[in-house]
Amino acid sequence: MSNETSRERVLSGIQPTHLSFHLGNYLGAIKQWVDLQSSHDAFYCVVDLHALTIGAKPEELRRRTLASVAQLIALGLDPEKCTLFIQSHVPAHNQLGWVLECLTGFGEASRMTQFKDKSQKAGSDRTVVGLFTYPILQAADILLYQAHKVPVGEDQRQHIELTRDLGQRFNAKFGETFTIPEGYILKAAAKINDLQDPTAKMSKSSSSGAGVIEIMDSPEINIKKIKSAVTDTGREVLFDEQAKPGVSNLLSIYSALTAKTITAAQEDFIGKGYGDFKMTVAEVVVEYLRPVREKANELLEDEAHLSKLLKIGAEKADAVASKTLRDTYDAMGLISRG
Ligand code: TYM
Repeated sequence: MSNETSRERVLSGIQPTHLSFHLGNYLGAIKQWVDLQSSHDAFYCVVDLHALTIGAKPEELRRRTLASVAQLIALGLDPEKCTLFIQSHVPAHNQLGWVLECLTGFGEASRMTQFKDKSQKAGSDRTVVGLFTYPILQAADILLYQAHKVPVGEDQRQHIELTRDLGQRFNAKFGETFTIPEGYILKAAAKINDLQDPTAKMSKSSSSGAGVIEIMDSPEINIKKIKSAVTDTGREVLFDEQAKPGVSNLLSIYSALTAKTITAAQEDFIGKGYGDFKMTVAEVVVEYLRPVREKANELLEDEAHLSKLLKIGAEKADAVASKTLRDTYDAMGLISRG
């Protein structure tokens, strides 16, 4: 990484909530992470502290975190080109998180839609406070690295807005300290939907799993899921999100994985029925994911190697994050230990 300082910085994060990411995570976010790592000074983290909000068992969290790192590399992140690290390895995330909590209004945090949805489903007694402060920790993740861009899916737009508000508020009150980031949200793949409920986003927490394509699942399982995808009573393969949400979702997946425009993707299926269409999409998906799954499994066999990569990543991240934290503390009047 020769001219780091002259390149724009990107940061993003992903939660290790399962043993496999799904296609929405990849197309909505990780694919852009891979694209941006060559042209940007890129920081990507597995946000294990955020994942504590779901209350996984310790051994599960450990395995999911390593599986997440392995998949990120298998999907194309190159630790030589980007800084790949685990959030809990850099204590400044929690430290800046507290500072930002002291600048966030209670009402402001209460308006976060992801918090409202999740807490409504669970009920207030079963909702942890960490879920409430979750977006503030996310803002700390981003502001610590002075990121210009944050590649994420559509569902993160409100959290990026909060991050911008908090950064601007801090700068106005205590002097220019943070770069104000922009969301990097690609329209075409920003929301990949569930194959069984194509008006809802693909998400493991909100569906039975039958409509979720998992990166680490076998080709047989994924072919079956795509063949069973909900479409409509029509016959033509056309992109029309209102009238044909199922077909449009499959076309979005196909076009993103083949790097074809939606128009070119539609042309591939002129005169073909839904059966052929689904089979072709299924083949594209499983052939795309086959080497990824193999590579991730191979990486998981050598934990010592992954740990070594993560240590290097944490050191690089820590150097940037500690400097921002110190500047933040200074700006606010917290006395340096000397
Ligand atoms: P997480 O782990 O839920 O999701 C990771 C990324 O995947 C995107 N995504 C989708 N994109 C398109 N279609 C879908 N169906 C779909 N489902 C998920 C998400 O938008 C996300 O970009 N709060 C973040 C994690 C985070 C973070 C950060 C992100 C913590 N700190 C700092 C950016 C910067 C989250 O929930 O990701």
